[in-house]
Parts: sequence; structure tokens; C-alpha cells
Amino acid sequence: MATNRTFTMIKPDAVANGHIGAILNDIIAGGFKIVAMKYIQLSQEDAGAFYAVHKERPFYADLVSFMTSGPIVAVILEKDNAVEDFRTLIGATNPADAAEGTIRNKYAVSIDANAVHGSDSDENAQIEGNFFFSYFERF
Ligand code: PPS
Repeated sequence: MATNRTFTMIKPDAVANGHIGAILNDIIAGGFKIVAMKYIQLSQEDAGAFYAVHKERPFYADLVSFMTSGPIVAVILEKDNAVEDFRTLIGATNPADAAEGTIRNKYAVSIDANAVHGSDSDENAQIEGNFFFSYFERF
């Protein structure tokens, strides 16, 4: 995967609250192209593996439990400077700190139910995209 890509998930809170369409609209309006997308339910094993990097953090069990509480939308996105620009578009992890107009400011509920995930580096964007999508599912 090229480094002009990032990976996102629309998290269970945003799906349950009916925000899939609005969030995808904001992402596309922000200049991102969708190159892969699927609507899925994560198992405990899937979510535990995806977030293994946070295994020692106090919120790990709650994060895994939350991410398996309902379906999510997994998406690979393409744009110049994708990782950084997407993190700007979604805003701070805690929606209370997210800038006005960002996706988390508009749609997130709390620091744990924060509407969307965004990769934090080009390397992780590639690892995370590969976690969800096989070669023939990426365009
Ligand atoms: S860091 O330091 O940048 O790695 O951490 P951060 O991006 O802040 O958070 C990593 C992921 O953990 C989630 N998170 C939480 N979940 C539950 N409770 C608390 N208190 C909490 N704090 C952070 C946060 O939403 C991040 O999830 P992703 O899916 O990576 O956005």
C-alpha cells in the first residue's frame, strides 16, 4: 500500500447513532477517496489483536469490549498526506478537546465512544489496512 493512504473505522457508537452516512460524507468532502470498505462485527479476538499495542494501558479491556459491542465500518482512504490530514479531520481523541467542526466534535459521545479511529503513522496505516483487507479487496 502506498504511503498516501490511511485506515479508519467508524466505531460502534457512531454506527448505532446513525452517523455512518454523515461521517463518510465528511470524509469525502475532506478530499479523501475510499479505496476499500466493509461493514463488520469484530470478535473479542479480532479487537484484542488490533489493539494489542495498547495491551498494557488501563483502558485496554474496556476498549476491546466497546469495539465488539456492535458493528463497525472499516475503510482504507487515499489522499496526499492522508494520515496527518485525516487526524486533523477527526480531531482529538477526547471529543471534549476536538476542534469545532471535526468528526469527533460533531459525532463522538465520549473518550471511549469517540466515533472514529485514525491511523497514527504511515507504517500503522499499512499494518491496519492489511489487518482488515486482503490484496484483492484493495484498489
Ligand atoms: S496514544 O497515546 O496516542 O496511543 O493513545 P490514544 O490515541 O489517545 O488512544 C488509543 C486508543 O485508545 C482509545 N482510548 C480509550 N478507550 C477507552 N477509554 C479511554 N480512557 C481511552 N483513551 C483512549 C482511543 O479512542 C484510541 O482508539 P483508536 O481506535 O486508536 O482511536
